[in-house]
Amino acid sequence: MTRITGATVVAGVAGAPVGHSLSPLIHNAWLAASGVDGVYVPFSPRADGFAAFVQGLAGGVVRGLNVTVPFKEEALRLATRPTPRAERAGAANLLIFESDGEIAADNTDGEGLLAALGAQAPGFDPRAGPAVILGAGGAARGAAAALADAGAPQVRIINRTPERAVDLARSLGGAVVAAKLDVAAFADTRLIVNATSLGMGGLVGPAAPFHRTPGAVVLDMVYRPLRTEFLERARKAGLVTVDGLEMLIRQAEPSFAALFGSAPPPIDVRTVCLAELGETP
Ligand SMILES: NC(=O)c1ccc[n+]([C@@H]2O[C@H](COP(=O)([O-])OP(=O)(O)OC[C@H]3O[C@@H](n4cnc5c(N)ncnc54)[C@H](OP(=O)(O)O)[C@@H]3O)[C@@H](O)[C@H]2O)c1
Repeated sequence: MTRITGATVVAGVAGAPVGHSLSPLIHNAWLAASGVDGVYVPFSPRADGFAAFVQGLAGGVVRGLNVTVPFKEEALRLATRPTPRAERAGAANLLIFESDGEIAADNTDGEGLLAALGAQAPGFDPRAGPAVILGAGGAARGAAAALADAGAPQVRIINRTPERAVDLARSLGGAVVAAKLDVAAFADTRLIVNATSLGMGGLVGPAAPFHRTPGAVVLDMVYRPLRTEFLERARKAGLVTVDGLEMLIRQAEPSFAALFGSAPPPIDVRTVCLAELGETP
């Protein structure tokens, strides 16, 4: 059992709900293996109480927080020292409470996406061709910014509510454009990302003409179940797939370093998560 002392560094994840989060499992496994004197706990502030919660922690009551749905945009607004990539993503998934009262914010989702692609689709190069992102919420925005910054020649955003895709494209600009759900939007695409919440709990994922996108890599941010209907459809079409659990673990790595001051130890945290999800490796 973790030994808590007066010197223990406290960090956590804030979300509403937060009970489903795998972050406590991941960070506490890393803490146990590294011997760092820290603990990582879930917090579930009231949906309208996040600002008060954060102000209460400012000044170093806890070292920092990961932030998940629905607080990522508000987390960025509350920060006094956001990183450029958090500002560009329009959302923060990490807050660090400095002892001088500053609230630093970062967004590691895009880094997690690129690292997951590197791990499960070796050889994938974002510069090789257009990417399609399905969804225009916070996760899509972080992914679009990261892919555009990594040199994707075009990042096409397709969303159920088209105005949100247009808004996202307008605010990121450059290579990021809004597109309609038709075959033309998938022409020459090298990467297709599901950044909608469709497919959770084993339900059907978003439509995509996988048989018309030979050689594309397909990533699903949804990881419950691990092998989503979207990824299974892509796999049956012969495409390389990347799962949302890999992205989750990869975005947690820089968070751990920022919260606890050292890189996570090289343990197999994926197997720990798979056991929790009831999945086989
Ligand atoms: N694996 C990871 O590390 C990771 C990281 C971040 C997020 N995620 C996952 O990514 C997903 C999106 O997260 P988010 O924060 O971006 O959520 P969000 O801001 O609430 O956005 C949800 C997106 O899903 C779309 N959507 C919802 N229901 C739909 C439906 N029935 N048909 C078509 N589109 C629908 C929404 O479209 P409208 O705009 O039309 O409503 C919107 O584009 C979630 O499943 C989240 O758990 C995973």
